[in-house]
Amino acid sequence: MKPGQTGDGRCSIPLSSSPHKRDPGSRRKIDGMKFPKPPGIVPLDNILPDEPLLMMGAGPVPIPNKVAYANSLVINHLGDTMNKVVDQVKIMARYVFQTSSGHVMGVSGPASAAMEMAICNLVEPGTRVLSICGGLFSRRLAEMAVRVGGDVVRLELPDQEPARPEQVEALLKDGRFQVMTIVQGETSNTVWNRDLAEICRIAKSYGCLNVVDAVCTLSTMPMEMEEWEVDAVITGGQKGLSSIPGVSLIAFSDDAWERIEKRNAPMAHWCLDARLADQFWNKQAYHYTAPVSGVLALHEALRLVCDETLPARFRRHAMCSAALQGGVEAMGLELLTPAYCRLNSVVGITVPDGISAERVRHAMSELYKVEISGAFGLNILRIGQMGEQSRTHNLFRTLHALGSAIRAVGGKADLPAGMAELERVLASNANVA
Ligand SMILES: Cc1ncc(COP(=O)(O)O)c(C=O)c1O
Repeated sequence: MKPGQTGDGRCSIPLSSSPHKRDPGSRRKIDGMKFPKPPGIVPLDNILPDEPLLMMGAGPVPIPNKVAYANSLVINHLGDTMNKVVDQVKIMARYVFQTSSGHVMGVSGPASAAMEMAICNLVEPGTRVLSICGGLFSRRLAEMAVRVGGDVVRLELPDQEPARPEQVEALLKDGRFQVMTIVQGETSNTVWNRDLAEICRIAKSYGCLNVVDAVCTLSTMPMEMEEWEVDAVITGGQKGLSSIPGVSLIAFSDDAWERIEKRNAPMAHWCLDARLADQFWNKQAYHYTAPVSGVLALHEALRLVCDETLPARFRRHAMCSAALQGGVEAMGLELLTPAYCRLNSVVGITVPDGISAERVRHAMSELYKVEISGAFGLNILRIGQMGEQSRTHNLFRTLHALGSAIRAVGGKADLPAGMAELERVLASNANVA
């Protein structure tokens, strides 16, 4: 352990005192000018663990070397090289979103910024929005719509249930909604909206544009933008694509773009104005300085997806997630979500009575250097199966760490049975992962 680190590699040294409390005595006169004393900061090496934790939570996920290398480069944000990179990013994004739309763009910022871009461009004050809410992220879309003045009706789904097409249709029927928001996978409680395609088509049939959050699902399961008549689809870099957080993707349909071009209300956002972003992404002009390293990383991540091909990638994710789920259950633990609407890309696990999810997570990172997620307020554990997380070697290490950590904090886990089941499912699908 390095000086200044705790056992799990985190920093134990108090960082410099609050910058708000200025101590006038701490200013030194140098070359006739007064300067504050530089803050006492520990080097990054003292903060980061000696051995990187295996990132098996709900994102960010491990990134391949090609992506990490691309992320270490800086190139000019304008000019021929960047134009070529941007062109290829769009071509590959079209493949991944399964669309031929000419309105595909990167977004500088987290997936939430891409969500906000969809909402603030399509929703004006008074726009009637139906938000299908089943958890934290679907409610975030609703809140974003409220913040830009949308007249928002929330369809609150029962706990651990997906949206049902007939339920959504009953609300859309009278044609009063102009925009519908929905998530494909609700990462917060691991529910999969399995009828997404039908729900999006229904919305379109009533003249309602649909906005789909595919943040934790894109490239882990089918998301056919064109076939399903999706109007705006969003994803982040740090999940299924196995890129870095901070550069996201968005695609608008022609119908959505027409609505954007015809909007009456001025755009309050400048960075997220889709028409301005289009200048950079489709017209080779300046909007703001793009995060070039992150765009290069995303390029490599998308290239790896294209190399693997979508069908092979979907098979790998489905198989790895099924093997992990089988292993967890064989250990004697319960999965959070019923099988028919269980998300593949993030697996929710109910923590046995009397055991704290927080303590299990702590033991996993401390003893086994594997990081998984808790949840927002629920005593559950979540293990990601997105991109590089869905590899056999990562599954063995994670499942072993989970069972051992549960035992270490006083719970029961049938480790041999769990590992044997993981092995059995993987072996029956050899060569997939
Ligand atoms: C389904 C879903 N939507 C949106 C987000 C927000 O992504 P970000 O944290 O990159 O803004 C997340 C993040 O976990 C997510 O899982």
